[in-house]
Amino acid sequence: MRIKVILISLMLFTAVNLFAQAQDINKLISEMTLEEKVKIVVGMGFNFPGAPGSQEPIVGQSMDRVEGAAGSTFGIQRLGIPSIVVADGPAGLRINPVRKDDSTKTYYATAFPIATSLASSWDPSLVQKVGAAIGNEVLEYGVDIILMPGQNIHRNPLCGRNFEYYSEDPLVTGLTSAAMVKGVQSNGVGTSIKHFAANNQETNRNNINEIISERALREIYLKGFEIAVKEAQPWTIMSSYNKISGTYTSEDYKLLTQIVRGDWGFKGFVMTDWFGGKDPVAQMKAGNDLLMPGIPQQIEAIINAVKIGTLDEKVLDRNVKNILNVLFLSPSAKGYKYSDTPDLKGHALISREAAAEGMVLLKNNESALPLNENQKVALFGNAAYDLYIGGTGSGDVNEAYIISLDAGLENAGCEFDKKLQSMYKDFIKNEKDAQPKPKNFFTPKPPIPEMQVSPELAYQLAEENDIAVVIIGRNSGEFADRKLEDDFYLSKTEIESIENISNAFHSKAKKVVAVLNIGGVIETASWRDKVDAILISWQPGQEGGNAIADVLIGKVNPSGKLTSTFPVKYEDVPSANNFPGTPKENPESVNYEEDIFIGYRYFLSNDVKPAYEFGYGLSYTKFEYGKPQISSNVFKDKITVSVKIKNTGSGAGKEVVQMYICAPAESMVKPEYELKGFHKTKLLQPGEEELVTFTINPLDLTSFDSNNFSWTAEKGEYKVNICSSSEKILSTVEFNLTEEMIVEKVNR
Ligand code: BGC
Repeated sequence: MRIKVILISLMLFTAVNLFAQAQDINKLISEMTLEEKVKIVVGMGFNFPGAPGSQEPIVGQSMDRVEGAAGSTFGIQRLGIPSIVVADGPAGLRINPVRKDDSTKTYYATAFPIATSLASSWDPSLVQKVGAAIGNEVLEYGVDIILMPGQNIHRNPLCGRNFEYYSEDPLVTGLTSAAMVKGVQSNGVGTSIKHFAANNQETNRNNINEIISERALREIYLKGFEIAVKEAQPWTIMSSYNKISGTYTSEDYKLLTQIVRGDWGFKGFVMTDWFGGKDPVAQMKAGNDLLMPGIPQQIEAIINAVKIGTLDEKVLDRNVKNILNVLFLSPSAKGYKYSDTPDLKGHALISREAAAEGMVLLKNNESALPLNENQKVALFGNAAYDLYIGGTGSGDVNEAYIISLDAGLENAGCEFDKKLQSMYKDFIKNEKDAQPKPKNFFTPKPPIPEMQVSPELAYQLAEENDIAVVIIGRNSGEFADRKLEDDFYLSKTEIESIENISNAFHSKAKKVVAVLNIGGVIETASWRDKVDAILISWQPGQEGGNAIADVLIGKVNPSGKLTSTFPVKYEDVPSANNFPGTPKENPESVNYEEDIFIGYRYFLSNDVKPAYEFGYGLSYTKFEYGKPQISSNVFKDKITVSVKIKNTGSGAGKEVVQMYICAPAESMVKPEYELKGFHKTKLLQPGEEELVTFTINPLDLTSFDSNNFSWTAEKGEYKVNICSSSEKILSTVEFNLTEEMIVEKVNR
């Protein structure tokens, strides 16, 4: 009773407070001049050589306060409106590590594993912990909002920024993102979920026109954002560069106002991506509250539009209010005294833990892994000594150090071939010295070629070592998509080297392990038979070498699973014919012909066998799935399905259990089945079991009916598949829905 009274008083207090704040903000807006209002909706500019002009800096208020931040908003001292600072993510906070005017201190941030790696843990609580650590660095370095998480869908493996995104599936994307937002924002700082929406390629990203059906948009490309907004209320959303059906997303009223605020109840503000969109007045009208980083021409255009009556000042007031609501929550508004000394040591441990949790074991014949204690390792591949810990572009973090794989093995007390180490180190140094300097930030250095391993060298090393570990490295980032040759497909040198290493080591009955230090999907089917084990380490953040060593030696049992399909060949990818669009030379538009059938939805429904399917990943131990129990065979308002998972192997481990629902397809086309729930068990000791319970809610039965603009569940028989991957159904239970259900209607 007492608790109830306290809760009610608290709710009343919060409501009264919000009301008071709304009153205050309305009053503030009424005291602002037109020019001041417009300066609030246009950022302060971009401190970057060659970038268009900035607003007049206000000493101590602009982003100059945090060097390397991506932008800031205009403050009005007279009215007590703070200027806030925004900086990039998503693998950690991106700011300059050293400052021009201060040689006494450094400002390094922790490089966490890339987003795809975090999602591959299938563990939102771990992601939230990473988010909390990132948010602490945001707060303690004087930043107010971090421009992350990125949550575009992995539509095609060649998208250069897939590493910044989570998955081909909207549920995994949405729940991972919500956890990240909650973690970051638990520090009293904000996030910006991006790039809203359907920014699925870098090729002509600023102008590409995407033709997407209403259903695919709602079910696939918006769903993850919807989940994140509803579950975690991010402070801000960043609109994307591209157009959808002819309209820039930043100028799209339907997207930014009707859907985001009307259908989903978003309470924060929307900002553009940097220099995104074309028409500032259209952006204002659409509900793109803040234009970033901001240029003087935008200020002029908006003031002018209000003066000549093409923009209603009320629209401007609405946008100003959306921004001010968030500004007043910020550390800058509260005068937070940041320390510039976040707990980098503690966060490095979290980074290492998260990196290991996201690794995916694709293959492990005859228990090639974990390594035995006394095995001497021949460590092949440039990336073993020069690890890719994250991607390039705005998602690149300035970390204080990187643990390479050779250093990680050394730290773990593993013996490895030092002669080979020096060969690689010399090779890498010479190749790097010979590389031309990159022209600018927008054209990162191409990777150096891989060192060729000749048959002679391979045989000699097979003689002197017990096992080969070959690391294959890939990097990509903003501004460009990946290529098929020498990237999605292995290069000739890589294939020949693997062959030579495989022949040599196998001739001596010694094993070969491949470690994939990648940011996105690559081809594996043509060469996987040459190796005994394959571990995806992803781009694992600054502690990468230690984390990979943890998994290689079995200190951590791998428990990650794929959040995107690894196809046998590129042509098998459903968007292969429509990426990056037409015309081929300079694509202007891209037709999402595959519609909702992306990733596993396509592979399952069309019986195309992937190399490794969505949801797949091995462990050093084994799990047994019990018989599932269903709470009812007729659906009323919810149903639960429970299943016992038992560790029947010899080591401790965690299992990711997946629930897919197969829905009747009478009036709408449906994928074979779709992921509707997942759960990662706790660390189960040998013999230990855990009861996993999934709750199925009405929305989980629905598809988007674009005739009716509703989320509708068809009547009929539903199958619930309990799976260890999208292709591995371990048991099925069924229930019936006796009447069609319109679960949610949305704005047209
Ligand atoms: C990227 C965004 C980023 C922004 C600010 C843009 O080029 O697309 O993801 O947040 O720059 O750096």
